[in-house]
Amino acid sequence: MSFEKRIVVTGGAGFIGSHVVRKLVLNYPNYQIINVDVLTYAGNLENLVDIDQKANYVFEKVDICDQEGISNVFAKYNVNGIIHLAAESHVDRSISDPLAFIQTNIVGTANLLNCAVAFWRNDFTDKRFYHVSTDEVYGSLGDEGFFLESTPYDPKSPYSASKASSDHLVRAFGHTYGLPIVISNCSNNYGPNQFPEKLIPLFISNIVAKKDLPVYGKGENVRDWLYVEDHAEAIDLIYHNGENQETYNIGGENEWSNINLIKLLCTEMDSVLNRESGENEELISYVKDRAGHDFRYAIDCSKIKHELGWSPKTRFEEGLIKTIKWYLSNSEWVENIKSGEYQAYYKAQYESR
Ligand code: NAD
Ligand code: TYD
Repeated sequence: MSFEKRIVVTGGAGFIGSHVVRKLVLNYPNYQIINVDVLTYAGNLENLVDIDQKANYVFEKVDICDQEGISNVFAKYNVNGIIHLAAESHVDRSISDPLAFIQTNIVGTANLLNCAVAFWRNDFTDKRFYHVSTDEVYGSLGDEGFFLESTPYDPKSPYSASKASSDHLVRAFGHTYGLPIVISNCSNNYGPNQFPEKLIPLFISNIVAKKDLPVYGKGENVRDWLYVEDHAEAIDLIYHNGENQETYNIGGENEWSNINLIKLLCTEMDSVLNRESGENEELISYVKDRAGHDFRYAIDCSKIKHELGWSPKTRFEEGLIKTIKWYLSNSEWVENIKSGEYQAYYKAQYESR
């Protein structure tokens, strides 16, 4: 069977990547979707069991830093597009192990860019290199203001600095070699399949187990939350309709201080779990703040709204309930993930706080 497009999705076994892979596999039977993932602690092929037998889906266990491995994937599938999500993605881990972030996020992205330029050999017709990034590259806001595409980069954590570096490399390859690149910078995602080290799935899991909810500092930091399916939809749209060499900010227009979000989660879960009203809030425990903790992220996403007609669809309360229910009915998925590595991480991250 010959496919109209052959698109590599890197990090397709992770949280956002698996939603992107599923959407593309189901929406475009005439595209071949090649999931390239090395399966770190965050990668899980169980995320894709519902679509992994489809004729237009294939998985390749390859490290994005491996030049030979990536070149072979390009040649084997005659790849003409990349949607790059593979990354080390957790700020706390970037504080305890920054070099892993430099390797995957910077060296890995450089390797992908280099392989794309080498394989496409200046024939960029119908080619696209789409880099998925984060709003954290813009730094930290005070109480006022929003990140625009033109906001100067000011990353503050090893994670955001490594993502900022990768964004710069992608733009430089676009400028220097004419590689048809596009970048998006998105706010915090939540939804099914997120690894339970990030705030929402960690707290859902701790509430179920009646474990402490470790709120960093005073819980006043603010994040803008977007349901993962809405992000996947934006990625599909940008891949197809975004302009080359452009950047699009994606956000939920949905700002919450951590403590207000956590209280909402506790209340929703009181009723879902048939607990007394207020019972889950008693689990809240204020712990030592994250080093260099960014105060506020907030996205102005008017460019993608006006130019591509995208807007966030899922109301937060509705997305949160869907997410809670997904974790409750996929307890096996959660337990499988909480293997040896997770136990060691949890102990190191929380027991000394
Ligand atoms: P994740 O940690 O859930 O998944 C990352 C995936 O990349 C995993 O499947 C992992 O196995 C794979 N991977 C890691 N290193 C690799 C390597 N060297 N080679 C091949 N595969 C490798 O991450 P996520 O939350 O789904 O984030 C995906 C992307 O979106 C990242 O680039 C992240 O920076 C970006 N992003 C995430 C958020 C968010 O809120 N989660 C928000 C904005 C942008
Ligand atoms: P997180 O999900 O790690 O995303 P990010 O740091 O990329 O925004 O954290 C979201 C917010 O929740 C952030 O302000 C840190 C805070 N947080 C806690 O208070 N306790 C926790 O255990 C975690 C993981 C996060």
